Amino acid sequence: MIVAWQSRGMGEIALFLLLLNGRMLMTGGSSAELKVELQQAGAQLNPQFLSVTIDASLASDPKYMTFLGSPKLRTLAKGLSPAYLRFGGTKTDFLLFDPNTEPSLEEKLYWESQTSPGLCEKRYLPLAVEKNLKTQWPFQEQQILKDQLQKKFKNTTISRSTVDLLYSFANCSGLSLIFGLNALLRKGNSQWDSSNAKLLLNYCASKQYNLSWELGNEPNSFRKKAGIYIDGSQLGQDFVQLHKLLSSYSIFRSSGLYGPDVGQPRKKTQKLLQSFLKAGGNAISSVTWHHYYVNGRTASEKDFLNPIVLDGLILMIKNVFQIVNETVPNRKVWLGETSSAYGGGSPGLSNTYIDGFMWLDKLGLSATLGIDIVMRQTFFGTGAYNLVDANLEPLPDYWLSLIYKKLVGSKVLKATISSTDGTDDKKLRAYLHCTNSNHPKYSAGDITLFVLNLYNGTRNFQLPSSLSSKYVDEYLLRPAGNASLLSRSVQLNGRALKMVDDETLPTIAEKSLSPRSFLKLPAFSYGFFVIRDAKATACI
Ligand SMILES: *[C@@H]1O[C@H](CO)[C@@H](O)[C@H](O)[C@H]1NC(C)=O
Ligand SMILES: *[C@@H]1O[C@H](CO)[C@@H](O)[C@H](O)[C@H]1NC(C)=O
Ligand SMILES: *[C@@H]1O[C@H](CO)[C@@H](O)[C@H](O)[C@H]1NC(C)=O
Ligand SMILES: *[C@@H]1O[C@H](CO)[C@@H](O)[C@H](O)[C@H]1NC(C)=O
Ligand SMILES: *[C@@H]1O[C@H](CO)[C@@H](O)[C@H](O)[C@H]1NC(C)=O
Ligand SMILES: *[C@@H]1O[C@H](CO)[C@@H](O)[C@H](O)[C@H]1NC(C)=O
Repeated sequence: MIVAWQSRGMGEIALFLLLLNGRMLMTGGSSAELKVELQQAGAQLNPQFLSVTIDASLASDPKYMTFLGSPKLRTLAKGLSPAYLRFGGTKTDFLLFDPNTEPSLEEKLYWESQTSPGLCEKRYLPLAVEKNLKTQWPFQEQQILKDQLQKKFKNTTISRSTVDLLYSFANCSGLSLIFGLNALLRKGNSQWDSSNAKLLLNYCASKQYNLSWELGNEPNSFRKKAGIYIDGSQLGQDFVQLHKLLSSYSIFRSSGLYGPDVGQPRKKTQKLLQSFLKAGGNAISSVTWHHYYVNGRTASEKDFLNPIVLDGLILMIKNVFQIVNETVPNRKVWLGETSSAYGGGSPGLSNTYIDGFMWLDKLGLSATLGIDIVMRQTFFGTGAYNLVDANLEPLPDYWLSLIYKKLVGSKVLKATISSTDGTDDKKLRAYLHCTNSNHPKYSAGDITLFVLNLYNGTRNFQLPSSLSSKYVDEYLLRPAGNASLLSRSVQLNGRALKMVDDETLPTIAEKSLSPRSFLKLPAFSYGFFVIRDAKATACI
């Protein structure tokens, strides 16, 4: 079934694979070609490449922030460390900090549940209080989604206790917190009013909370959300002002400032980004923008499996890089908030196995095209696109993220699969990285291939002779519970993934394939393959 391998001069090895596909073989055979480049690495990713968000709407009523005290949620978050935790979203521009305001009863009970003052001490809400919160949460969620849909936003005041909860959740889970400051506080109709931000900075500095910052969320739609128009150049100047302010605190002198968190980069938004970067580009350490493939209310199952939808991301990334190149060349570019479907995700799709096609492909494409950080909207909160659901149960994308973290390293290699006609096979999507060197089982030179099969039929590969003597560890993810792509649970190599208990994640176990085995991807599935002892020079 294998056919040949060919050396193409320096650095490139071409692997020819025959895909074993019943139909194709019957019609006379057909071959697809996987090319991998093992000697030259592309981008070097940030170790925090896969990062997460908490939407600021969780603080619409601060009592719900006590969910972040849950030991189970913290165990799940720790699994994804190192990562950034961005606290932001529309509500960012409707939050006010008041150091003198009283915390909610729930927040107070949380902090009082343990006499030890340490930030990371384990604390529990009284059971009845927690139960109550969980019962009320679905109604709160409905209200938040409704307000978002109608673009009706109210201000909420948060207390010191809310900031403590957020910071302790991040810090004690090994995540680096990014806090989005309210950009809609204005002096008249012109420049940003930093007085509320100063109160928060003073408080965080007094507690030695080391975090980084953003200012405003999706400024391209400020008019729709608040009837205020702020142009890119003004926003750029506001960032310069914030940068100066941060420099006046010793703890924040070198902390990151990221922006402008523009929404989908359509023409008008591209203009805003451009004028923002001209005026404020030097004040920021990374350029942030947001991406969603589809509208959560109209998305269908087909969208998630459609290579044209997935490829839509490519042009957007290129557009953003072009603007960045023209204004602040070499500045890092981050997907500062991103998921499959906007409007809170698509219930029944975004929280099931099928979402993994968009999520894994986004991770693959973004790394290949040089995006430095991808922040998944959200880790936990309102809507359907979360990694962990309202019962604090991890969803398929949580497990996918966890396995990605464990296996995929920071160096990006190249893999392409072509159809017989020589063009890229859009339905068999492959990405290749050096294996994560922190994995205890793997060593320098090992490589991790991940592949998505968008065909309604099994695809088989076999490594060519140059690699056929290698052992391969397979990590195949398939829907569990039922065979449906809309399953809310997932199986790894045939076994459903479940937490052992609230403080223990299961072992992520490989299935070892002996040399010369087929790598097999069932219809509509995705998986990782670690090729051991591959001796890829870029990974040594
Ligand atoms: C929120 O508070 C700010 C500052 O007091 C005020 O300017 C703004 O109009 C308020 N926004 C809403 C939606 O009430
Ligand atoms: C958490 O806080 C400690 C103490 O301030 C600090 O050393 C550590 O780097 C922080 N961790 C993260 C992930 O920010
Ligand atoms: C804050 O954390 C960053 C990295 O996350 C680190 O570079 C910096 O030194 C820290 N600052 C302080 C004052 O601890
Ligand atoms: C941006 O610049 C880099 C190098 O300076 C180049 O590799 C890349 O192709 C450019 N991207 C775009 C979209 O212009
Ligand atoms: C895949 O093929 C099966 C059997 O032919 C069919 O029932 C199913 O609808 C197909 N699925 C999709 C998403 O095309
Ligand atoms: C099984 O699939 C159906 C859709 O076909 C879905 O409604 C149900 O929630 C799934 N069950 C589990 C356990 O995920």
